Amino acid sequence: MEIELSTKEFNLFRQYIYEKVGISLSEQKNTLVKGRLNKRLNQLGLTSFHAYYEYLVRDTSGEELGFFVSAISTNVTSFFRETAQWKWLEGALLTILQSKKEKKIRIWSAGCSSGEEPYTILMFLQENLQNFESWDIKILATDISEKVLSHAIHGIYEEKQIESLPKHILLKSFQKIGQGNNIKYQILPSLREKVTFRLYNLVTDPFILKNNQFDMIFCRNVMIYFDDVTRFEVIRRFTTIMPKGAPLFLGSSESLTTHRDTLKLIGSSIYQRL
Ligand SMILES: C[S@@+](CC[C@H](N)C(=O)[O-])C[C@H]1O[C@@H](n2cnc3c(N)ncnc32)[C@H](O)[C@@H]1O
Repeated sequence: MEIELSTKEFNLFRQYIYEKVGISLSEQKNTLVKGRLNKRLNQLGLTSFHAYYEYLVRDTSGEELGFFVSAISTNVTSFFRETAQWKWLEGALLTILQSKKEKKIRIWSAGCSSGEEPYTILMFLQENLQNFESWDIKILATDISEKVLSHAIHGIYEEKQIESLPKHILLKSFQKIGQGNNIKYQILPSLREKVTFRLYNLVTDPFILKNNQFDMIFCRNVMIYFDDVTRFEVIRRFTTIMPKGAPLFLGSSESLTTHRDTLKLIGSSIYQRL
């Protein structure tokens, strides 16, 4: 039986989610929240949304918050998503790296979901960097959802997720695991070890990265649910850890009308630090 969500209860979630994640749920989202979370309430043996609200607020680990966000938004991702951006990067990579004194590359995939984005970055570098192995490459990959991160850490994907990848990339990046009808593809340990996955809420977690510099930041299809104030602040923080010339990649449906003094549009939803 479906558990009802009253307007009063819905407003509690709205307020909490806005404060914690910067997502502003419109009043019309009442049905969506009710529909998507009913199963979760059943799993937890809870009989009202008020009880679930209390459960969510009490969970200081952030795990349930990640679950909530996954339920009301989307974790959809794929390898080499936003083809135009990878094409652009093919032409721009050498210029981005030319001023480096050391053979060291640091990249942040913020809102990495189940790992396709950070692993694509490595596959891309493997294809486009001369002497890939001689570079010290570290990718920081963060997300608010523990569930997607645990998938990402293992780096195991179904055949349909990898079937569009060129054969030579497949061979260099994955190992087959399983048997019979249960064959899966796992990212090779030599690539996985270059990625550090971390639970990190872009909106409320302290900005621990302020002493870092990233050669590139990917934050694609993450801020679509954020309101303007939240998006402004998240982007402002990014600009403080990008050296001059570094690109910031957003999702193809995302564009910036702010930060014109620090970021310039140079490609399809790609902004360069001025
Ligand atoms: C649609 S996926 C995008 C994945 C990948 N960047 C891409 O473009 O394919 C959005 C991801 O952002 C994460 N996310 C949403 N709000 C977040 C927040 N406040 N802090 C960190 N991650 C967040 C979600 O958990 C989800 O995995």
